Amino acid sequence: MAGELKAVDVSLESLGRNPHFATGLPVPLRAGDAAPANGRTFYVETFGCQMNVHDSEKVAGVLLGRGYRLVEQPEAADLIFYNTCSIREKAAQKVFSRLGIHRPGSPQGGKIIGVLGCVAQQEGEEIFERAPWVSLVCGSASYNRLPQLLAELEAGNRRVMGLSLDTDATFETELTRRDNPYRAYLTIIEGCDKSCSYCVVPFTRGPERSRASASVLEEVRRLVDLGYSEVQLLGQTVNSYRDPSPRRMSFSELLSAVSGIQGIRRVRFTTSHPRDFGPDIIAAIDACPALCNHIHLPVQSGSTRLLREMRRTYTREDYIEKIVLIRAARRPVSITTDIIVGFPGETEADFEETLSLLDVAQYDGAFSFKFSPRPHTTAEHLPGSLPEEEKGRRLSALQEKQRQIQTARNTAQVGRTFEVLVDSPSRRAGQWAGRTTCNRVLNFTSPQSNLLGEYVRCLVQSAGPNSLVGEQVI
Ligand code: 5AD
Ligand code: SF4
Repeated sequence: MAGELKAVDVSLESLGRNPHFATGLPVPLRAGDAAPANGRTFYVETFGCQMNVHDSEKVAGVLLGRGYRLVEQPEAADLIFYNTCSIREKAAQKVFSRLGIHRPGSPQGGKIIGVLGCVAQQEGEEIFERAPWVSLVCGSASYNRLPQLLAELEAGNRRVMGLSLDTDATFETELTRRDNPYRAYLTIIEGCDKSCSYCVVPFTRGPERSRASASVLEEVRRLVDLGYSEVQLLGQTVNSYRDPSPRRMSFSELLSAVSGIQGIRRVRFTTSHPRDFGPDIIAAIDACPALCNHIHLPVQSGSTRLLREMRRTYTREDYIEKIVLIRAARRPVSITTDIIVGFPGETEADFEETLSLLDVAQYDGAFSFKFSPRPHTTAEHLPGSLPEEEKGRRLSALQEKQRQIQTARNTAQVGRTFEVLVDSPSRRAGQWAGRTTCNRVLNFTSPQSNLLGEYVRCLVQSAGPNSLVGEQVI
């Protein structure tokens, strides 16, 4: 094992309980997994979704496994990886401005630069044209090839590329180096086979590939051994999971199996696609206390006409049926969503339908975005594009309405008691912050010191649109 990591491991072990929780340090590799130090350092910056965050954890594991040492500052790194997002244009632009700081001759020049993820896949070789100082371009569907690409770089190749989308493998690495010591991400399905007309993901992440259920369960057991009690199963359409092994576990059976592993206290999963969301998932939540009270169920629009244009494969009414199903669960399950405003041809009446859906659905949270035309998507050239100003007006109106709904829903929690998993000191001195099973942030006071990684019960005393405030009940 590399010297630095070993030092971390030993000191963590000596702290007792869950060593990672006590320090907030990243979870190290298992002893014996890492290669001898090769004298080189790396830094990874991640843009975008949780899938990307977790992919970066796996990439870091691969590098540590080759003897590279992780550093916290890009200035200290020989090798810098940007794991990129191209879901909206702004996100993709950010990457190119970041690459600009490594121009030869600049203070941050002279390093080996790699571009990973969705922008890598989307732009491909073009990246070498726009930023000739980049040495590695690799899309997420080709991460299996990373060790080989790194070997080519180490052998002195100036430019290496992995852009194949025809892989049917998933990217699994036992060497995953997790950043979050409290919640472990775990990919169960990669890519996306839906073809929403606005979305670049099927192009950048390739076709859907599910992991064998036995491999998922084995990783969860390993995570318990590392001290985790909360896991989050990830996939662009996580509930479209199809076990490729002869066991043929359904998604809800997998949820139950993960929840049943000894030591697992919380299981989350994201993102669910409404079309594949069935009563069996609610039955699993009813039956398994460890399955969290939260479902992220992107609706995108409240207008059936627009949903058809977006190729979402459900109507407003179909979607509302799913909400009714979730609300009928035995315990209150919070629902969050994603919404796009200003899709080409969105009329005022369509937009009003989205606003009225907020009243019906009563979301506990909503991520909302202005439509951004993306390359390789059918919506890119649709007629009826809306002026930026109008998109902005609709976004503000939607967010204001949702803010009021959230304030009311959070205020309704005042006087209730929740269990939270404490994951950080709060921004206010003397306070802690944790998440409830329904994924609400709860900031609370406590007479105790160092509660990191503990499950504690808290009484809610007040609420805002985005969080609850309370005190620990002892
Ligand atoms: N423009 C705006 N928002 C988008 N999303 C996906 N593609 C686009 C786009 N072209 C949003 C969707 C998705 C979330 C991750 O990003 O709401 O659920
Ligand atoms: Fe994109 Fe639609 Fe797939 Fe989600 S389901 S990743 S929005 S294509």
